[in-house]
Amino acid sequence: MPLLVYRPRNYDQTHEREEYRNLCVQLKERYFASPDEMCIFIGNYNIGDVELDGIIIKNEGIVVLEFKDYGGAITATENGDWISIENDVRSIVKGGAGRKNPYTQAKINRTASKPVFVESGAFSAKEVERLSSMIVFHRPSEIDNKVSSRIKWLRICDERSFIDELDLIVSPNCDLQQKDFARIIDRLALDPDWLCVRYSNVEVLKDINVEENDTQAPEEMVLFPDNNPAPVFQEEPLPDDKQSPDPNPVTHQVDESQQTFVSYMEQVFSALGIGGRFEVIDVKNNSVPSWVESSQATNEFLVAAACTGFKKKIERFLSRPVFERDGIIYWFDGEPLEKHFDSAHIAPAQEQIVHPESRMEQNRLKTTTRLPSWLDHFIFEELKGSWDADHEKFESNLLSSQDDNLVYLGTYFPRSYADTFCIFDNLFSVDSCHSSLEQKDSLKILSIGCGTGGDIIGLLTALLRNFTQFSDISVYAIDGNPYALSILESVFDRFCITTKCNAHLYVKQTVIDSFSTDFLSDWPGVEFDFIVSSKMIGEIISSGNGTKDNAYYDFGKTFLPKLSPSGLCLILDVTTKPLHTSLFFPHMMSDQLNRLMREEDDYEVLVPICCSQFGKICQNPRCFQQKEFSISHSRKSSDKCRVAYRLIARREFAQSMGIVFPGKRMSVYEGTVCPYTNGFQGEVDPYRLNGDNIV
Ligand SMILES: C[S@@+](CC[C@H](N)C(=O)[O-])C[C@H]1O[C@@H](n2cnc3c(N)ncnc32)[C@H](O)[C@@H]1O
Repeated sequence: MPLLVYRPRNYDQTHEREEYRNLCVQLKERYFASPDEMCIFIGNYNIGDVELDGIIIKNEGIVVLEFKDYGGAITATENGDWISIENDVRSIVKGGAGRKNPYTQAKINRTASKPVFVESGAFSAKEVERLSSMIVFHRPSEIDNKVSSRIKWLRICDERSFIDELDLIVSPNCDLQQKDFARIIDRLALDPDWLCVRYSNVEVLKDINVEENDTQAPEEMVLFPDNNPAPVFQEEPLPDDKQSPDPNPVTHQVDESQQTFVSYMEQVFSALGIGGRFEVIDVKNNSVPSWVESSQATNEFLVAAACTGFKKKIERFLSRPVFERDGIIYWFDGEPLEKHFDSAHIAPAQEQIVHPESRMEQNRLKTTTRLPSWLDHFIFEELKGSWDADHEKFESNLLSSQDDNLVYLGTYFPRSYADTFCIFDNLFSVDSCHSSLEQKDSLKILSIGCGTGGDIIGLLTALLRNFTQFSDISVYAIDGNPYALSILESVFDRFCITTKCNAHLYVKQTVIDSFSTDFLSDWPGVEFDFIVSSKMIGEIISSGNGTKDNAYYDFGKTFLPKLSPSGLCLILDVTTKPLHTSLFFPHMMSDQLNRLMREEDDYEVLVPICCSQFGKICQNPRCFQQKEFSISHSRKSSDKCRVAYRLIARREFAQSMGIVFPGKRMSVYEGTVCPYTNGFQGEVDPYRLNGDNIV
């Protein structure tokens, strides 16, 4: 009977307690008869800002449960209300707080919990890809399931058919073994005090060695020993994809039904990882902005938000048309308007519904993130990396000792992780780039001057967050420092184990005197899907004392031909300056890469967008560019890192991405506007690819 049942806290409602008990009894019977299988049932668990009635983790799948206190004849649909008729009483089956039906509720909970399962390190992206949801009715039900058969992740049943339905769930790519259960218990921080001993086979805990698992549960982690007090965390930013929408969205004449709808929208925004504000207008009782076409008004509420990059995602999630205009997306939702409602009489609103400043905020590249908890623990607790902002500035890391590398690991690795992760996460949100990568089954990544690998892990994390299909990723890493490479190997191994990513690392220790493809002779004929050089070229320039000042150009000239047809190259550096010249690294990078793009017709810059559009004609030899990223981890909240960078691709691929000049000003560094965009109205972030600048 390898069943473990956990319940962090009791349920509020009587029917939930009863349903929990009934399911526990059935699970106990089911798993008692099958000693080779393993199942964990967690009741009443919060994850990713949503409250789940239950989670079942079995060998072949992970299932999120919703309990429903209804029975009788149930009609279930994607759109509209679910109806229950029981003893001649007709009721609407509610989908939790807010104006949701149970299908939407299940979808929100599934979408919100999936990334958190992966981030916690409990499961890999592949394992949760087909995460299932089950809606279980407490009382006997005849279910008329009108939800499209395309939607395979949702199962609807009553308590009588619960086990049969559960047994039908077999998710491809999910094959959890006994050894995985120790990790899951650890990463979901399942406290032994929550065990419901009556239903659990507690002896199994000895066999699965939870205590000996190589990672400790968060509450056991001693991050700040007594002699090393915790840094003061003020206004801890939330992790990227969990930023809550504005808790007080501005609404007009709010009544109760609108409040309910706003709370539903907050959950949708949160589940989709969209930060920032949105507005809800009651179409019937209020005026709507003049730019809304009255013929588009189909439902009682208009929702508008300045997050054009999320248009497709919202459209897919809500299965309704989303319109776009002037940097705003909007759609109609809620109850359909009655047929006799004359939408042509909607009055135009006097006020602007989204303020230009907030729209600009939305158009900025997301530059804050948090180190994944497994990585935080690994680099600080296991590898003993240390955070030390006062450490003598690392001008050159080539000859760094092991101790210096540990300071680098604790201080600079997280920063490199942050900038690479944020840059690629944005790039992968571009449809054309996403679909091109989606067609690839395997990837080859080259990092030159990889050091301890913050850039590699940042890129890999963005890849796993956005794609699930890669069956093989090969990473080719070159650096001159043996200690850094050895740290990289440890981090990389742990990354593969934690995320279950099938990736291979090939390292080459070599001191680069001048750029040449000779370093790649061990890997002949390889074309790379990604070429990254992060914070290394500047070190080459500094070491050359004037003889290697052309290094950005030389790097591009040498390595861009090694890009695969749809490959992407990131050249990134710090924004300081070498001692021997008055030029800063960004001056050199801009000037040299513009020159290279003028000479080489085969390549184009993607980002910054102003350089993509005007780089070839740009005559500014001293263009200072800088973007600030920020990373939070257990040793430092919001640690800042300032860099300059370019993303480059082969011309054909770059053109297929359809980047256009949005006809707005672009600031390349804190208010310094690219002169070629000066004089245009409005402003967009040249570092962010989104709906404004992609056709
Ligand atoms: C600032 S670190 C960057 C590491 C990593 N790419 C990152 O973003 O965190 C620079 C790396 O370049 C390597 N490096 C500097 N000059 C080099 C050279 N001439 N040959 C090989 N590696 C070099 C150093 O050993 C160091 O690991």
